Amino acid sequence: MNEFQSDGIYRDQTAELYDTFSTGLVGDVEFYVEEAKRAGSPVLELGCGTGRILIPIAEAGVEIVGLDAAASMLSIASNKVSRLPEEIQTRIQLVVGDMRAFDLGRKFSLILIPYRAFLHLLTVEDQKQALGVIRDHLMEGGQLVFNVFDPRLETLAAHSGPFGSAVKKLMEFTDPSTHHRTIIWDSRQYDCERQVLVEDRIIEKIDEGGTVISRNYATLTLRYNSRFEMQHLLNLCGFEIEALYGDFHRGAFRYGGEQVWIARPSGHIPG
Ligand SMILES: C[S@@+](CC[C@H](N)C(=O)[O-])C[C@H]1O[C@@H](n2cnc3c(N)ncnc32)[C@H](O)[C@@H]1O
Repeated sequence: MNEFQSDGIYRDQTAELYDTFSTGLVGDVEFYVEEAKRAGSPVLELGCGTGRILIPIAEAGVEIVGLDAAASMLSIASNKVSRLPEEIQTRIQLVVGDMRAFDLGRKFSLILIPYRAFLHLLTVEDQKQALGVIRDHLMEGGQLVFNVFDPRLETLAAHSGPFGSAVKKLMEFTDPSTHHRTIIWDSRQYDCERQVLVEDRIIEKIDEGGTVISRNYATLTLRYNSRFEMQHLLNLCGFEIEALYGDFHRGAFRYGGEQVWIARPSGHIPG
């Protein structure tokens, strides 16, 4: 197994900006809270990051463990948790760990992997390892619920090859802690042989006079999976599919949108 290399955007100063630029997908928080309330305690979130989904789940009365490989992200989550009422804090546990290899010594009614964190598993071997450990951590009747984007062939064709896309402005906002104007530029390259998207980001902070006062570089690497590849992978790893939605309002799956999966361990134990 490869050592986990935390993607640049989850480290240090870039992690601090995460909540400002990663605001999630329409309806995802409500969807995951609803799933957690339906399943009941205890719930496990893999790749919980800064607690964007984990905290609302605990606030809804469900006990939740959040596991993440990036200490910088967990430290932001932990700061937020420390400001919550004590009764809610008691329902939250944060753990540094790798979703490909963890042993929490207990089982869960529900395991969540929101906001495409599964795509950080860059090889089939890593994906299989994670699904095996997830299966071992589910109670009887427990479920795995997660979402990943559905890759668009047109986008792959436009951004593959040695140079990828031109550098474009991704977003601009005011850094809430320093009040500096912040611009994130990005360029994307799809490696269609490995099914890996490499997104290079440049984060610029600008003062009132328009001068760039800092420039950081961060890379995000994701392995994209087609809908049927995901379905076969789940089956291969001993899961049966309960539902595939195309959005967080449980609409039909549509090519190029989101894959929102609900799966549970099947009777078949993979060899
Ligand atoms: C897109 S963020 C999602 C954070 C949070 N779930 C949310 O919805 O805002 C992906 C997270 O997955 C974590 N991650 C990536 N690879 C991981 C791995 N192998 N094991 C555990 N966490 C991982 C990253 O550190 C990051 O915090």
